[in-house]
Amino acid sequence: MSLSVRAYEDGDLEACRQLWVDLTQRHRDLYDSPDIGGDDPGKQLDEHLRRPDFAGLWVAVDGGEIFGLVGLLHSGEETEVEPIVVRPGHRSRGIGKHLLDHVCAEAAKYEVGYLSIRPVARNVEAMAMFVNEGFDRVGHVQLLKALKPTQIPWRDGMTMHGKKLRF
Ligand SMILES: CC(C)(COP(=O)(O)OP(=O)(O)OC[C@H]1O[C@@H](n2cnc3c(N)ncnc32)[C@H](O)[C@@H]1OP(=O)(O)O)[C@@H](O)C(=O)NCCC(=O)NCCS
Repeated sequence: MSLSVRAYEDGDLEACRQLWVDLTQRHRDLYDSPDIGGDDPGKQLDEHLRRPDFAGLWVAVDGGEIFGLVGLLHSGEETEVEPIVVRPGHRSRGIGKHLLDHVCAEAAKYEVGYLSIRPVARNVEAMAMFVNEGFDRVGHVQLLKALKPTQIPWRDGMTMHGKKLRF
C-alpha cells in the first residue's frame, strides 16, 4: 500500500458516511445491540460536520480509494480524537496508526496540554492500540447507572481503584 492522509473534501461524503456505518457496526457487534446508531447511522457524519467544536477531518487514501477516517474536536483547552475508523478487512495493517499520527500532529497546533480519545470500555482492541500509541493516562471516567431494564449483557471483569465494574 502507498497510503497517504489528506483533508476531507466534499466528494468524500458518501465514503465517509459508510465509514461511520462501519464504526456503528463495531459498536453494535460489541454490545450485541443492532439498534445502536438508529436507522441511518451514516447521517451522524453530517451532524458531526456541524458541531461547533469540529476542528477537522482527514481520510487515509490509496489509489484514490478511502480506507479510513479520523477527526479532531477542539474547544478551549480540550482536544479530542473523534471519530477514528478503518474499513473492515483493512484493519491491523497500520492504517489506524497512520491516521492517529496525523491527528496528533494536527492537535499539537492548538498548543494544549493533552489530546484525548474516548473508546467505549468494551472496545478492548482499540484501547490496546491507543494505549500503545501513548494514550496511557486516564482523565474522567464515565460511570453509568441503569435507570430502566437494559438489553445489553454487561460483562464482569473490570476493576478500578479496587472496585468491581461491569463493562
Ligand atoms: C481501532 C482502529 C481505528 C485501529 O486501526 P487499525 O488500522 O486496525 O490499527 P493499526 O493496524 O494501525 O494498529 C496500530 C497498532 O495497534 C496494534 N494492533 C492492531 N490491532 C490490534 C488488536 N486487535 N489488538 C491489539 N493491538 C492491535 C498493532 O500491532 C499496531 O502496533 P504496531 O504499530 O506497534 O505494530 C480500527 O481497528 C477500527 O476501525 N476499529 C473499528 C472502529 C473502532 O473501534 N474505532 C475506535 C473508536 S474509539
